[in-house]
Amino acid sequence: MNVSLQFRLSFWLSCAIVAVAVVAGTFSFVTAFGEANELQDDILRQVAILADRHHATFTEEPANAEGSFPSIENRVFIKPLGRATPHDRVTPELPSQLSDGFQDIQLHDRSYRIYVKTLKSGTRVAVGQEVAVRDEIARDGALRTLLPFLILMPILLLLARDIIKKMFRPLSRLAKELDESKGRTVSALPETDLPEEIRPFVVAINRLFARVAESVSVQRRFIADAAHELRTPLTALSLQAERLNESEMSSIAHKRSNDLRGGIQRTRHLVDQLLTYTRVQDYKGVVEPGVMVNTSLQTLLEDLFPLAQSAGIDLGVGQGGDLDAYPDLWVSASETELNTVLTNLVMNAIHYTPRGGEVDLDAREDGTSVLITVSDTGPGIPLEERERVFDPFYRILGTGQPGSGLGLSIVKSICDRLNASIRLDYANAQRETGLMVSIRMPKS
Ligand SMILES: Nc1ncnc2c1ncn2[C@@H]1O[C@H](COP(=O)(O)OP(=O)(O)OP(=O)(O)O)[C@@H](O)[C@H]1O
Ligand SMILES: [Mg+2]
Repeated sequence: MNVSLQFRLSFWLSCAIVAVAVVAGTFSFVTAFGEANELQDDILRQVAILADRHHATFTEEPANAEGSFPSIENRVFIKPLGRATPHDRVTPELPSQLSDGFQDIQLHDRSYRIYVKTLKSGTRVAVGQEVAVRDEIARDGALRTLLPFLILMPILLLLARDIIKKMFRPLSRLAKELDESKGRTVSALPETDLPEEIRPFVVAINRLFARVAESVSVQRRFIADAAHELRTPLTALSLQAERLNESEMSSIAHKRSNDLRGGIQRTRHLVDQLLTYTRVQDYKGVVEPGVMVNTSLQTLLEDLFPLAQSAGIDLGVGQGGDLDAYPDLWVSASETELNTVLTNLVMNAIHYTPRGGEVDLDAREDGTSVLITVSDTGPGIPLEERERVFDPFYRILGTGQPGSGLGLSIVKSICDRLNASIRLDYANAQRETGLMVSIRMPKS
């Protein structure tokens, strides 16, 4: 069953319009039919009065040569009562004992409406008309009164549908706004320009949004505080593990100590990523005036070069040649934000590209934005995973690499805040390998 309010309103309003039209049409038809009959009775009476006033004489004459009435208007006959009319094959023989006034009589299987009048001359005449003919005339007239209903009803139905649609427009607009806020921070819905019936509902939704935002914020603060509190003991643990590793021990103990250091290192990374994630989510500051992309890329290259080297990756900046062509690229972001985005992307590229591969960073001007690309020669991300990898803690299984699954969520959150778009493609589309991340940021 369709539960759409708009549909139900249209349906019941249409039913009401059709019902009213049927009742009004029937009433109009019956009234018009009755009036047409009364009018024809009047004609019969008028004919009798005229015949009396003009002392009409009655000869026996058929209506026309064929013995039928020439036209429907001529089907009123007048004849004296009780006089034989053997040559008249059209009008019926009327019995002489009919009383004065209107009456319906049945003659030779036909019904007639008769008005009998005794003239001043003493002659009794009957003015008559066949009932079927009268009904046909009355029906034609009555049917014509239905015409306005037949024309107006569909117009009214269309109008009602259109008006309902227009009235529901604010609701569709709200639904669209809610839909578009999906994935972003939920902002309050506009409370102006709304019908009185909908405003309380929107106000209630906005209050709910505020409560949800507050509770999410409390949870985020809790996670941030927890991560922050974990940092100090983890640093101490890490230092103790370092010291333990330097002391004399058996090779098995040495191996176990190394595993312990690795575990602590991964936990520290997770805590750091968690802290960055909560900070990025809660960041409400204004977009910074700008940062120069080329400088950030060069600094990043210097910072991550040792990591790339130990992983056997050839890390390069501007190998596509674009960076040389655009020496002064400024984007609307803070240095920390741009750095966090680029570090996460380049770390991913280094981690997930097998030894001997290449990672290239590039940037160029593109209209009103700056296009930054990070591409690698690794396995890339399959099409079906490209939406999900932005979810927090989502990791593709089987990469064999440690990680918290927060890197791309952090990148996406920063991009959303900066009004930047992010896109994942295969670096080599033909072979479907390598990941190319393209970020389009507004120029500052
Ligand atoms: N350059 C890449 N090549 C292939 N797969 C990638 C690449 N970058 C990311 N991925 C896949 O996307 C997943 C999500 O990446 P993301 O950076 O969010 O998390 P992570 O790297 O696992 O952890 P973190 O970055 O928080 O340490 C990764 O687990 C990985 O499978
Ligand atoms: Mg990562």
